[in-house]
Amino acid sequence: MGHPPSKQSLKRYSIRSIALLAICILLGVIITAFVTWIIGNYIYGTEERHVPSAKKTDTGPSASDLILPTSVYPINYDLVIKTYLPGFGYKEKRGENKSLTFDAQVIIQLNITKTIRKIILNSLDLRFSESKCTFTVDGQPVGVQLEVNKDFEKVFFNLDKAVEPTDKAVLKIVYNGDLRTDMAGLYQTTYTNVKGEQKMAAVTQMEPISARNMVPCFDEPAFKASWTVTVIHPTGTTAIANGMEEKSEDLGDNFISSKFQTTPRMSSYLLAIFVSEFEYNERHTKSGVRFRVWSRPEEKNSTVYALEAGVKCLEFFENYYNIPFPLAKQDMVAVPDFAAGAMENWGLITYREDSLLYDPRIYTGAQKRRVAVVIAHELAHQWFGNLVTLKWWNDLWLNEGFATLAEYLGTDEISDGNFRMNEWFTMDALWIALEADSIASTHPMTFQIDKAIEVLDSFDYITYLKGGSVISMLRKTIGEDNFNTAINHYLNEHKYKNAEAADLFNAIAAMLPDDVRGPNGAKLNMTEFSDPWTKQLGYPLLTATRVNSSTIKVEQKRFKLLKSAMEEEKYRNPKWGFKWDVPVWYQSVGSKIIEMKWMKSNEPLFIHSEQPVILNADSNGFYRGGYSTELWQQIIKLIKEDHLQFSTQTRVRLIDDSFAGANAGLLNYSIPLDLLMYLKNEQDYIPWSGALQRIRELDDKYGTVREKDSFHKFFLALSLKTPAKKDVDFVSKNYLDDKKFFDVSAAQGLILNDCFMGDSSCGENMVKLFNKEVIGKCDSGRILSECSQ
Ligand code: BES
Ligand code: ZN
Repeated sequence: MGHPPSKQSLKRYSIRSIALLAICILLGVIITAFVTWIIGNYIYGTEERHVPSAKKTDTGPSASDLILPTSVYPINYDLVIKTYLPGFGYKEKRGENKSLTFDAQVIIQLNITKTIRKIILNSLDLRFSESKCTFTVDGQPVGVQLEVNKDFEKVFFNLDKAVEPTDKAVLKIVYNGDLRTDMAGLYQTTYTNVKGEQKMAAVTQMEPISARNMVPCFDEPAFKASWTVTVIHPTGTTAIANGMEEKSEDLGDNFISSKFQTTPRMSSYLLAIFVSEFEYNERHTKSGVRFRVWSRPEEKNSTVYALEAGVKCLEFFENYYNIPFPLAKQDMVAVPDFAAGAMENWGLITYREDSLLYDPRIYTGAQKRRVAVVIAHELAHQWFGNLVTLKWWNDLWLNEGFATLAEYLGTDEISDGNFRMNEWFTMDALWIALEADSIASTHPMTFQIDKAIEVLDSFDYITYLKGGSVISMLRKTIGEDNFNTAINHYLNEHKYKNAEAADLFNAIAAMLPDDVRGPNGAKLNMTEFSDPWTKQLGYPLLTATRVNSSTIKVEQKRFKLLKSAMEEEKYRNPKWGFKWDVPVWYQSVGSKIIEMKWMKSNEPLFIHSEQPVILNADSNGFYRGGYSTELWQQIIKLIKEDHLQFSTQTRVRLIDDSFAGANAGLLNYSIPLDLLMYLKNEQDYIPWSGALQRIRELDDKYGTVREKDSFHKFFLALSLKTPAKKDVDFVSKNYLDDKKFFDVSAAQGLILNDCFMGDSSCGENMVKLFNKEVIGKCDSGRILSECSQ
């Protein structure tokens, strides 16, 4: 702000001339701004894309600072990377200090779609040799100057002149970087071998935005390109990458060059390389895909199960998706240091060791199942995620939710149905998701991700487990065959490209037969049905009350564990007012048939039945059932008489919903506790597993009060009677038999619970077992896993 004008100056200029001048200046400013914007946009093409609210925040760069322009696309990356991994004999040249670093060169073939003056790539913590970087168009060199912006995680290649649209542009970048220590980008993983020596391998983890730590690139999922990778690595190590090995050459000086086949078009977050002295077991799938599982040499025998499981599961998914696996090989590696559980890099899946290695001498059936589940999950991604990839991270639930569901199908295949994953989904996925989505920290499945880094917050139960459960409900609603046809259509339509959640719903809609009806009786509208489930948080509690001898009324209300706990403000007033169109699956007591009726979001549903009905039978839907006290009492009486008239998924739903109702203050605890009495007839692990969880949760609530003793006595008496109860001997004789997986798990669960509840014989039994199996079999100084099971 200037100081006010003096009277003298006012005298010299008339009011009119001042106004005229002001208008001219204003017009000048507007025109200049407009022209600058047009030219800027035309030349640099920095138009915004999937970043609707590109606001500057106080913390760091804005979303639009971080995003890449769409005026330049990569076609192919030719990457050569030399890793200086210590401990493998090569000699440093004098004055060199390259240990724990890499040298690299990438040649990127580009498609330029608008006239540009600069090329912008993502890059972080890389050091460039500017004088060796070149840019050519149609073979003609164009001068480039580099500018690194660390905050934006970008490197700018400023060109000496404007370049017109072309697909004959080639950018060569020479650079180096460090083998990182933060388990991102290309990083070091260390371990001690049997001789007690410290060893090291180099491995990558790129999702979501760490490819830029190894190679300057277009590090957003929508920029798919093919990758030709060559790794130069110390003699004594092997290198693997996404593609099949193509050529290996001894370069002398203790280095080998390994070149890999060019990958199909893929997103940068799926890029992977691995350099190590690891060993592998190998097989081929029926369709000829070479399958290898790698581990530290001393764990080689622990990869046998993963190999068998992987081959079986890849064959299953080729069949399920009805699309051949597009690569010649699949590698899976157990990495000693790994941040996630596993990562689905195309053709080179990486795992935390405990998610891939299985040794029957050391691990329980539950750990074996965990290995199968993780393998199935990552192999499911090879199509759903890798072949067809999200356009942007806000659709992460689609990627991870689908893989979560597919993980159950794949694991059933691996275990020949012994792990009964279809039923287990209720306990593992639905149970946890319903809990997570009833508390204030929840969020809608679809929510805005402005900056890619923010996606790390959404790898949670809502994305994975609500995602999987809602997709599962949808699958049950339209039928498995229709669902599978739609998935195949979606994958074929978008393969080697990107898609959004809406594309999946459109693909389902396109393949849906007319006789699949929605809540209003007309053909089901996929978007209208799914939007309230995916775009608003929470889910309904359906409450049944009897209105007359033949009719039951069902009403819906959002289920919250604690009424007064408020979710984030931005989610509080959704368009659908926390109401849903609900496919209501129900079973009348006494009938084995499960029926489905639509409940409209704004109307109660009337069910004609003289018997009580169980809502969400088979746990098909993403909602809870509630009942009037009278109906609860009738249901409990009938389940005590004959629990086998309901499936395990229905039994576990009753347990879960009754406790959830009591926890939310809607029900007296006498209802769930009375229901638990039926467990004296229950042999199956699934309902027992749910019950044990709820019992322990309740036990925690008792704290140290004296009534806790009565509570413990009550359950010790109950577990004494149940046919699921077996002794430790039964566990030790049968724990390797997958067919007995459920009986063994139930026995283990009950034994541990008894110990926990103060059963006096428990401690004695454990000491006896330890003396016999460990002290009796192992001399001091021996490795436990070698002398005892
Ligand atoms: N894509 C994820 C791995 C990931 C997670 C990368 C978070 C970056 C950030 C992978 O497919 C995955 O979901 N892994 C799971 C295992 C699965 C069985 C649930 C994991 O790591 O826990
Ligand atoms: Zn996943």
